[in-house]
Amino acid sequence: MEGGSFLGIRKSTSLTSILSTRDEKLGLPLPAHQQQKIRVRTILGHCLYRRVLLWSAAVLFFLFFALSRSRTHLQHGRIMDMVDFAQGETENVSSLEVVELVPPSEVQAKEKTDDESDGSKDAGSHMPHWLRFRHLDGYFNGIKAMVSLSEHRPEFPRKKGEKSPFPLTVTYNSLPTPTPFVPQPDYKSPEYTSKYHAVEPCYLDKDEKVPVPDLYAYSGVVQGMPLPAMGSHSLLGLRDDICFDRFGRYGPYGLGYGFGEGGVEVGTDTENESSQAVWSKGGKINYDNVDWGDAQTRCFESNKKRFVDPVTEDDQKPEPRSSTSNEPEKIARTAIVVRTYVGFPWSQHTVLNFRAMISELSLRSGGEYTVHFLLHIRSNDEPIWANPATAQHIMDENVPYEFHSICTLWSEAQMRLIYPGRFGSSVANPSNGDIHGVYRSAQMPLQNFAANHPEYTHFWNWEMDMRWLGNYYELFDRLATWARNQSRIELWERSQKYYIPNLHGSWENFSNLVHQEMQDSGRKTILGPVRFAGQTSAHAGNIIEEENLPASCTNSTNMSQCGVGEEADLITLNPIFDAEESGWVFASDVTGYDSSSPTPPRRCAIITASRLSRRLLMAMHEETWKYHHTMFSEMFPASVALHHGFKAVYAPHPVYLDRGWDLESVDEAFNGGRDHSTSRHGSPFDFQNEHNHKGSTWYFNSEFAGLLWRRWLGYAQMDGRGVNGGRSGEGTLRGGIVEEKSAASSGRLCLKSVLLHPIKWEHPSEMW
Ligand SMILES: *[C@@H]1O[C@H](CO)[C@@H](O)[C@H](O)[C@H]1NC(C)=O
Ligand SMILES: *[C@@H]1O[C@H](CO)[C@@H](O)[C@H](O)[C@H]1NC(C)=O
Ligand SMILES: *[C@@H]1O[C@H](CO)[C@@H](O)[C@H](O)[C@H]1NC(C)=O
Ligand SMILES: *[C@@H]1O[C@H](CO)[C@@H](O)[C@H](O)[C@H]1NC(C)=O
Ligand SMILES: *[C@@H]1O[C@H](CO)[C@@H](O)[C@H](O)[C@H]1NC(C)=O
Ligand SMILES: *[C@@H]1O[C@H](CO)[C@@H](O)[C@H](O)[C@H]1NC(C)=O
Repeated sequence: MEGGSFLGIRKSTSLTSILSTRDEKLGLPLPAHQQQKIRVRTILGHCLYRRVLLWSAAVLFFLFFALSRSRTHLQHGRIMDMVDFAQGETENVSSLEVVELVPPSEVQAKEKTDDESDGSKDAGSHMPHWLRFRHLDGYFNGIKAMVSLSEHRPEFPRKKGEKSPFPLTVTYNSLPTPTPFVPQPDYKSPEYTSKYHAVEPCYLDKDEKVPVPDLYAYSGVVQGMPLPAMGSHSLLGLRDDICFDRFGRYGPYGLGYGFGEGGVEVGTDTENESSQAVWSKGGKINYDNVDWGDAQTRCFESNKKRFVDPVTEDDQKPEPRSSTSNEPEKIARTAIVVRTYVGFPWSQHTVLNFRAMISELSLRSGGEYTVHFLLHIRSNDEPIWANPATAQHIMDENVPYEFHSICTLWSEAQMRLIYPGRFGSSVANPSNGDIHGVYRSAQMPLQNFAANHPEYTHFWNWEMDMRWLGNYYELFDRLATWARNQSRIELWERSQKYYIPNLHGSWENFSNLVHQEMQDSGRKTILGPVRFAGQTSAHAGNIIEEENLPASCTNSTNMSQCGVGEEADLITLNPIFDAEESGWVFASDVTGYDSSSPTPPRRCAIITASRLSRRLLMAMHEETWKYHHTMFSEMFPASVALHHGFKAVYAPHPVYLDRGWDLESVDEAFNGGRDHSTSRHGSPFDFQNEHNHKGSTWYFNSEFAGLLWRRWLGYAQMDGRGVNGGRSGEGTLRGGIVEEKSAASSGRLCLKSVLLHPIKWEHPSEMW
């Protein structure tokens, strides 16, 4: 890798041998089934944001903090809630959040008074309001403080006036031992085999000697670990009684052992007490010669009979087929399309992440999922379609060899060819980008990918700088299952609101609340295709929206069941908001619709990570090539779903906050739009409100996501607690090998599963 950014890359395979196996797989843009072997990458939404927002918002923010600096100095130690962990170093320390460890020899009950004081209530009115909330510490307690779920006392949330449970006394005799965590169905069980075809096990190697490993989890959670502010594990069916450390999660894929043994070296530079358990069953796997494309293909081939064949079946019928026959049910296939690009700084941690993703989703599921990279070739001057050696050279320079065979290349010039003709004027183009450019139209290559891959029914759009701390199969499977079970009644309305379980109560409470809020608003709820002025002529083609509602909605014997059991066409990981008057920067980046009518109604979900159905992507494809309709990347899928009457769902996955907000404030900030939702005026996606997300684990501007992830990986981080309001890079260096090894420490982190974004770097050597 150029510039040595590919930490420790060291595999050298002769170019000729690669070419001999790859030549035939590189094709022209059109022949569909060949493309899958070429790779691609993209720059996604958040990058765009940064460009445009940085010079409006960032300038504002810098000004803001420069101005507030003097004031903050005066309040040092009040606003900043410094926290003492192992060695208290600050003047006004609140050491209360520390779990007190009592090794077996000194077990004795220790009671300390809770002296928590939140001295920052009087933070200046020009400061972000959330500075008045204390940083939470419970995330950073380690594995020695593990307890069962029933003993768990979360640091957050606490009721008003409720005392801090800290310090809590935890006793331990030895480090707990992790066990394999298998979220896939029990493929050998009678329940499974009586319904579906048998699943053939898959292997990493051609000789079928190396089975696909399982990751390891700990049964229990770390004492004090906060609960998510938004979203819920249990609602989605994600385990909330287990936690993951870095060795259990990544050790089976090469973390924690060196190149000499076929590992990735990283992790050997961190605290590692008792980490060997994760290799006790399968040993340390040597990943030197794994070809992930080959492994996925072999796995699918041996399990082919399990899956819906698009050539013989009329696919896309969302209703489960009636099982009057004894024929085993066939399963639809899902592609994970990871967007990458020429110049992406691959690291050994990135490699680990995608080994894990492919192993857990594809190989351990007998081919239910298949992972692809869509590699964006930024230069339109490279003869990638004419000359296979050019394409190969670009892959050699930009993607680790083990992933070459799952890459599909694309370029913006190719999108101009696929979607030719004149696109009308845009209502607004704040980024001043090209209509075929990845910033404004990241969906175009995905639409084209779907058109070329009829074997898949669903497509997850995914990005390089996302991490799921947990097992990928559990995440994607549970999201799909939960979304399928959602009724379409008031679904758009529920999906525009953050779910704050400790404020809203159960999901049923939340649904009732949304219902009440809609009644109070006097506005009609949305069901089926939305009509708007200027639409009819454009839709005179062969898009027949009425077919997009399932029978459970059209025969109306029990409308509460409308859509229940129907696969979702769109699953997003942030609320789906009405972009009109929302203050979201790209709300009017709408192109090609009837310009004599008002801008069409639009919906949007920030961060392009989402699952799209084939029929949604094909509707987007047709809107694009036939009508020259398009919108900014994060707005087009949800808006097409709205116009066509597709099932769109926001899945409230767990999102954590780094500070102990009171829950009413969370609701005010994150559901501050119309009807107490994220839509319209007051939206949390208004660029003036986006600072609220900085301490969250899932937003393009989050600073907490990277901090938490790197602490979990075992690298010391500045804790972000400082005189300027707690920005990244400030504060005290915490965590890392010295602290985790110290006798007073509770050890390395063990976290409940969580989605993290953005992760811009991982190993300390990548910090430039
Ligand atoms: C710590 O902060 C509290 C509340 O702001 C204040 O009353 C107290 O005097 C401070 N203690 C020290 C030692 O600075
Ligand atoms: C921990 O790491 C050190 C250094 O890499 C290694 O020598 C030791 O064997 C490791 N311990 C375990 C339990 O893996
Ligand atoms: C499906 O949703 C209903 C209504 O919210 C709920 O009662 C039920 O438990 C859910 N079923 C599954 C399998 O999640
Ligand atoms: C949720 O609904 C139940 C049953 O209707 C009710 O008892 C409870 O108070 C509600 N909780 C909240 C937080 O609204
Ligand atoms: C209505 O649709 C549901 C779901 O498809 C089906 O189970 C039910 O039999 C239908 N009822 C009538 C009266 O057609
Ligand atoms: C409609 O379905 C819901 C959920 O299954 C059920 O609670 C309700 O009783 C049904 N209503 C009728 C009229 O069948």
